Amino acid sequence: MPEKDAPGTVSRVLSKMEEGLAGLKAGREPVRVVTHYDADGLCAAGILSRALLRANRPFHTTIVHQIDAPLIETLSRQSYPWTVFCDLGSGALDLVEGLRSRAVIIDHHRPLRESRQALQLNCHLWGIDGTFDACASTLALMAAVSLDEANWDLAGIACAGAIGDRQHWPAWRGLNAEIMASAERMGHLRTRRGLVIDGPNLLSALSENNEPFFRGVSGNPEGARALIEAAGLSPQATVKELDESELGALASLLVLNLLRGGTSEEYARGVMVDRTWVSGFDTDANELAAVVNACGRLGLEDTGLAVCLGGREAMEEARSARRRYRAEITKGMLGLEARGITRKKHLQYFYAESAQMAGAFAALVMNYLFPGERPTVALAREGQSMKVSARGTRPLVARGLDLAKACREAATGSGGDGGGHTIASGATVPLGSEMAFLDALDAAVGKQLAGGAG
Ligand code: C5P
Repeated sequence: MPEKDAPGTVSRVLSKMEEGLAGLKAGREPVRVVTHYDADGLCAAGILSRALLRANRPFHTTIVHQIDAPLIETLSRQSYPWTVFCDLGSGALDLVEGLRSRAVIIDHHRPLRESRQALQLNCHLWGIDGTFDACASTLALMAAVSLDEANWDLAGIACAGAIGDRQHWPAWRGLNAEIMASAERMGHLRTRRGLVIDGPNLLSALSENNEPFFRGVSGNPEGARALIEAAGLSPQATVKELDESELGALASLLVLNLLRGGTSEEYARGVMVDRTWVSGFDTDANELAAVVNACGRLGLEDTGLAVCLGGREAMEEARSARRRYRAEITKGMLGLEARGITRKKHLQYFYAESAQMAGAFAALVMNYLFPGERPTVALAREGQSMKVSARGTRPLVARGLDLAKACREAATGSGGDGGGHTIASGATVPLGSEMAFLDALDAAVGKQLAGGAG
């Protein structure tokens, strides 16, 4: 049964999950779980795996980058009676329908069409926005709670997954907001305002941090030291020991740094954030999201999943992965700062070295390095293909930007494929066709922003 006092949307989604998963819940057959490798997908995998473990249900979880024909062949050979796809599948219905087992898709990507063979537990089908209001992890939490109400204690992992998809910013909305409020009432989460940076002391917290990316400070210990001293603070002080006026002095200088670099006021205010402590983990959801994201991006998906399963050693490994990941991102950002970016009529683009990190770069470049109301596209070679990551802003989406649609159309015309969300999407196109793809994307974005059909 849905939680007794569950607010409207939570209650409605729990009923849908309960109805859809009744057959799976009633049986004892093994379950195959297949999720996406980003922070949201990994957290969703953690939630589903823990729920199945608690129910003493045999399961096998796999983290993938995409659904393709070889994956479906492998899954068909293994003949699990149930396959649960999470955070992917909606855009690959033709492939999923080829599976010889009962397929469930728990997803927040827009479904391409209805399906008779696959059961789509997709928030869009229930009138809930999947870009800002619900993600794979919060839907996975609802699925887990529909199996057993005790699984509400996994809400912190869902919170981390949603932070990974940047749905917490600037504030929780819709289904997510209701879930966080419920979980806080139940004592599974505790939120307080805090500085966005974290680390053993101010100097390392500031110089190693790159989100937000502070020009002249991120990746620059001397610049970081100068800013901390200008705030009248010791570089060796810790973030925790700052009193309110010290915190205010430091936050003001950081906001000023961002505004001077052209970052929007909304993003500059992100120097102070809600930090959500998670019961059962020795950290907050913000750090949990960051370490799990780093694991996914560095090819350490198993460590990321182990963190979500509560592994203490895995957490230490993941923290060290995050340090390496941050250093890589900072190096890339400093290189781009020196090289600059190429502008087309409606978008801007650059080349990234790593396909896995392209999305992270695109967002950081758009918000902090070369900010402005222009969608930002990162291109990175991946074998014989070019991987594309495109990112937009909320004001652009409000003006009509739909990057998922624009990427899908431009990629299809270039012999590739694409999709995602209005604000964050991607594509894969054959090597050599990227300029044609960019021209088509630029035209599609221009049309969308001018109020055309896009
Ligand atoms: O890889 P990246 O983080 O940039 O992907 C952003 C979004 O675009 C994700 O939701 C991903 O599933 C989607 N995407 C897609 N098709 C591709 C590449 C990415 O639908 N070929």
